[in-house]
Amino acid sequence: MKGVVLAGGLGSRLRPLTAVTNKHLLPVYDKPMIYYPIQTLVNAGIKDIMIVTGGNSAGDFLKLLKNGRDFGLKHLNYTYQEGEGGIAAALSLCEDFADNEAVCIVLGDNVIEGNICRAVRAYGEQGGGAKILLKKVPDPQRFGVPELRGERVVRVEEKPDQPKSDYAVIGIYMYDSNVFEIIKTLKPSGRGELEITDVNNSYIERGAMTWDVLDGWWTDAGTFESLLRASNLVAETGANKMELKGAVSS
Ligand code: G1P
Repeated sequence: MKGVVLAGGLGSRLRPLTAVTNKHLLPVYDKPMIYYPIQTLVNAGIKDIMIVTGGNSAGDFLKLLKNGRDFGLKHLNYTYQEGEGGIAAALSLCEDFADNEAVCIVLGDNVIEGNICRAVRAYGEQGGGAKILLKKVPDPQRFGVPELRGERVVRVEEKPDQPKSDYAVIGIYMYDSNVFEIIKTLKPSGRGELEITDVNNSYIERGAMTWDVLDGWWTDAGTFESLLRASNLVAETGANKMELKGAVSS
């Protein structure tokens, strides 16, 4: 399985912090934000990783991360997103990189306490399709929200006014190589983006979606409140503990 970290976007909800730099280079406690999603992939045994970025500070990612030595990697891949197309548009740039393998995508502003080894292993055993990870949150209307019927997820709604559950679909997704054909069929949403939620609904309609609840805390870091929360959680309890011993192989 290959890994993708999506680190583009304007970070407009964090202006003026993002006026001269990319959101994912801002600090979360003692590390740049992008360290956390990379570590999440590495801790799951995924070593072939693509960073998708954009904007004016793209070169700073190379200066910061180089070939990924801080993570024990030999090499990192980089690609550049022109303009603002949304999460699914950023992912579409990884089709050649994926080369028909499954991919695990982590949004560059998602920070977790533990690891995703169990979910990655379960996805490997399900033989294709997709998997999403869920977490109970007090404010589901800020996120993609699943409608669950028993063990089945029947639909995901992006930032609904009336959430159908108190779960958020967190920004860690596993897809087979069909994802790139699905993205080609998407139409821009109301906010003018190709939505990852539409990708997830397409897998649900094909009967090819599973879900799991993430252990440990999770937060995004894309607003002032959640950026502060991420820093406080990392400071108080640590994040992304190195758990390579139990990691699955890539
Ligand atoms: C994005 C996704 C949303 C998901 C969230 C997780 O939202 O669109 O479905 O729940 O990431 O961090 P955004 O951060 O773009 O508002």
